[in-house]
Amino acid sequence: MAVSGSLQAGSSNRSLLESAASLAPEGVEVVFFEGLRALPHFDPDLERDAPRPEVEAWRRALSESDAVLVASPEYGHSLPGSLKNAIDWVIGTGQLYRKVVAITASVSYAERGRMGLQALRQTLEAVSAIVAFDAPIVKGPDADGEITALLRQIARAVEAARRDE
Ligand SMILES: Cc1cc2nc3c(=O)[nH]c(=O)nc-3n(C[C@H](O)[C@H](O)[C@H](O)COP(=O)(O)O)c2cc1C
Repeated sequence: MAVSGSLQAGSSNRSLLESAASLAPEGVEVVFFEGLRALPHFDPDLERDAPRPEVEAWRRALSESDAVLVASPEYGHSLPGSLKNAIDWVIGTGQLYRKVVAITASVSYAERGRMGLQALRQTLEAVSAIVAFDAPIVKGPDADGEITALLRQIARAVEAARRDE
C-alpha cells in the first residue's frame, strides 16, 4: 500500500509513489490509501464509541497489505500531523505491529527531509513496525533507479518477515 504524507494536489511525494507503482514488478499491486485527510483527530473517547468508518477503512487497508510505502514531506523538522494522526489510530490496535514499512521523502537536495524521516521512523518503531528502508530520494535522473532499489528492499523484508513468522 502507498501512503503520501502530503495532502496537497501536485505533491512531489505523491508523484514518487506513482513512479513506484509503475516500477513495481509484475505480481506486486500497489494500492493507494487516500483516506488520511478524512481521519478524525485521534481521541481515545471516539475509540470507546462506535468505530468510525474512516478509521476502520485505514485499519483494514493496513491489515490487507503485505507492506506499506510512505513518501512524506518534512514539516517543521518532523512528520506531517496528518500522518502522525493516522499512526496514532493504530497504536492501540496493532495494525503496524511487525508490518514491513518503507519510508522516503521526495527532495530537491540529498540533505533535505532527513529530520522528518527520523521522526517518522521513531513513531514507527514505537508501534514495532519493521522499517525496511529509510532515506530521502532526490528528484532527477537517478530517482527511478533508487525507487527500484527501494522496492527490492521491501520485497526482501517481506520475505524475511514471512520466514520469521
Ligand atoms: C508548513 C511547511 C513546513 C515545512 N517544513 C520543512 C522543514 O522543516 N524541513 C524541510 O526540509 N522542508 C520543509 N518544508 C518543505 C516541504 O517538505 C517540501 O516542500 C516538500 O517537498 C513538500 O512535499 P510535497 O510536494 O509532497 O507536498 C515545509 C513546507 C511547509 C509547507
